[in-house]
Amino acid sequence: MARSAERAPDPARGLVIMDNWPGYDLNLFTYPQHYYNDLEYVLIPHGIIVDRIERLAKDIMQDLGCCDLMILCVLKGGYKFCADLVEHLKNISRNSDRCVSMKVDFIRLKSYKNDQSTDQMQIMGGEDLSTLAGKNVLIVEDLVGTGKTMRALLSSIEKHKPNMIKVASLLVKRTPRSDGFKPDYAGFEIPNLFVVGYALDYNEYFRDLNHICVINEHGKEKYRV
Ligand code: IMP
Ligand code: MG
Repeated sequence: MARSAERAPDPARGLVIMDNWPGYDLNLFTYPQHYYNDLEYVLIPHGIIVDRIERLAKDIMQDLGCCDLMILCVLKGGYKFCADLVEHLKNISRNSDRCVSMKVDFIRLKSYKNDQSTDQMQIMGGEDLSTLAGKNVLIVEDLVGTGKTMRALLSSIEKHKPNMIKVASLLVKRTPRSDGFKPDYAGFEIPNLFVVGYALDYNEYFRDLNHICVINEHGKEKYRV
């Protein structure tokens, strides 16, 4: 039976994980031994992440139809999301009459130290942003928190007059510090917690963890800089 309009999920928020969500016990999953004492629980298992990305790819293909897409992967945290998203976009593209041709470029932004956002955002690497003039750009980012990082990147890109810019973020954090920025495509809306795994890091650690997990105090202390 069709869901009523009120109960239909809001695609702009993605899959909403509530504040009282207890997560999954780590002992029910496998994960690297070197992190055995550093995590609280699994917030989103790897399989669910990949399944949700498959649907995001379908939504993106439906919206964008036939076009040339420049995918701008925001490193380092966005590399897993970007790789899996591109894989799904390629699958849809070769099995349907939607013909998207894709190029992928990489840009590196850095704004976090320990678990805190800092005021300086550095843009590093990638081709000169002026090459995005007239292009259809899809920014692929790991997480939108306060929204500062995305707004700063968007304003740097907009100066070069692309034809279109869309933002896909795997995660959106519910934080009182949000400036209201919402991506065009969101995988999951998560509580205001510091999360790691699936390429998201804490001072460069935990990128080698498949699931998205909540770090514990011991982990924060051990890898603090
Ligand atoms: P914002 O500027 O506050 O929106 O921060 C966004 C950036 O900070 C993201 O691109 C992430 O790389 C990083 N970030 C924010 N929260 C987390 C987190 O919980 N884990 C890992 N990285 C995070
Ligand atoms: Mg990021």
